[in-house]
Amino acid sequence: MDQTTKPPPHVLIFPLPLQGPVNSMFKLAELLCLAGIDVTVVVTEHIHGRLLRYTNIQDRFNHYPGFQLKTIPDGLPADHPRSGDKFMELFDSLKAKTKPIFKDILTSDCLTAAGSRRPVDFIIADGSLGFTCDVANEIGIPIVYVRTISPCCLWVFFCLPKLIEAGELPFKPAEDDWDVLIKNVPGTENFLRRRDLPSFCRLGDLDDEQVQFYKSEGEENSRARGLILNTFEELDGHVLSQMRTICPNLYPIGPLHELLKAKLSTQKATPLPASSSSLWQEDRTCMTWLDSKPLKSVVYVSFGSIATLTTDQLMEFWHGLVNSGIPFLWVIRPDSIAGKDWESNIAADLREATKQRGYIVGWAPQEEVLAHPAIGGFLTHNGWNSTVESIYAGVPMICWPYFLDQLVNSRFVSEVWKLGLDMKDTCDRSTIEKTVRDLMVVRKQEFTERATEMAEFARNCLKEGGSSYCNLERLVKDIHSMMS
Ligand code: UDX
Repeated sequence: MDQTTKPPPHVLIFPLPLQGPVNSMFKLAELLCLAGIDVTVVVTEHIHGRLLRYTNIQDRFNHYPGFQLKTIPDGLPADHPRSGDKFMELFDSLKAKTKPIFKDILTSDCLTAAGSRRPVDFIIADGSLGFTCDVANEIGIPIVYVRTISPCCLWVFFCLPKLIEAGELPFKPAEDDWDVLIKNVPGTENFLRRRDLPSFCRLGDLDDEQVQFYKSEGEENSRARGLILNTFEELDGHVLSQMRTICPNLYPIGPLHELLKAKLSTQKATPLPASSSSLWQEDRTCMTWLDSKPLKSVVYVSFGSIATLTTDQLMEFWHGLVNSGIPFLWVIRPDSIAGKDWESNIAADLREATKQRGYIVGWAPQEEVLAHPAIGGFLTHNGWNSTVESIYAGVPMICWPYFLDQLVNSRFVSEVWKLGLDMKDTCDRSTIEKTVRDLMVVRKQEFTERATEMAEFARNCLKEGGSSYCNLERLVKDIHSMMS
């Protein structure tokens, strides 16, 4: 066929059905649409229902004629929490129930939004959904994985077989010293401790299903033609060069949310409706509250989309924040507190103190919050999206990792990038109070300078000729060449 009449590639994107990955993959979808590629995004029915309820995502994508959204069941009952300790059940169900339907979608030709029946030429799927690569190989479609967790944790996953072989795993936290340094994750020998390993390493059980699942990550990820990562060379260069020994073809194109904004700003087209892929109702009143606060005076507190707190932990955070004397904006997600009726247990004096210096919402427009001049620090669970968003916004962090990659991320934030303080494994009001004051008052200048410097690197990598800008161009070029 003549090159000029050849239709654009048709790429199918399949995110992990969680807030962070959904956010990143919609940004990626839009970046590919802007590059003239037809895109079908497949989301679970559960995610689709929430997108329709809380966002204008369809309005936004109506501007791209080659875009369509398709749904697939995740196999779980409607009232399943899909968070907290039930999180792994989602993976099991996706693998068992979703795989055959995923294959059907691919073999039955996706209908593009432009109205013509066109088969999928290329798949971009979350790398933790290994069945997508099985299906891609069975039907002969090239696949590239996306990992929305951090590269530093992915590198630890890649090294798990080595850690086991060398006897560094398993260890029994009850008996052993948690501060012992890990020797078999190249490049991290001087700072990565047992307590910083992904949370499932604490189980002391090599037969655990999570250990089994994550220990094959190196093998699994190298099956795809490449790996897209939400990071940038200037942040993660050392880890990326280690990872390339196993997966040579990496596409670090982060911070994804800002790369999209940068690309859109160069378009002459009419402005698009605001973009949001939030799975909860955003409460924008916090923006007005922030407007009334002085420069860099507020600590923003959020633990992402999966973490749950016990009522004891909630109370420790509450007292710690109030006692710190620092104004705080706190996201308490409706489903994030284990135990009912916690609201009625908040004492009157605590409520009163909160009214004076705190503001609580169920879900915030986080990217906008972090970009607000009043924000001076972020008390975060260190989900990878939150971490990257904070780095781009130049906001130093207090790390309270909840699980999985977050434990590795918090160590990198504090020890490698020097962008904050790690509060891992502690949750008492006096530590919280002290750490908030340390970040926001005592060591404010040091952390703000470092965060500003890193944010500058992040901005530069998105400019024409910058590392993430060029890696995206290479990805688009490779999609064209791999399908032909
Ligand atoms: C999950 C895993 O928990 C994490 O370890 C992994 O790195 C990515 O997937 P999640 O809890 O969803 O993370 O956290 P995160 O990756 O930080 O993503 C949360 C997203 O929700 C961010 O993009 C953030 O901007 C958004 N958010 C969060 C809001 O828009 N409003 C809020 O109030 C809170």
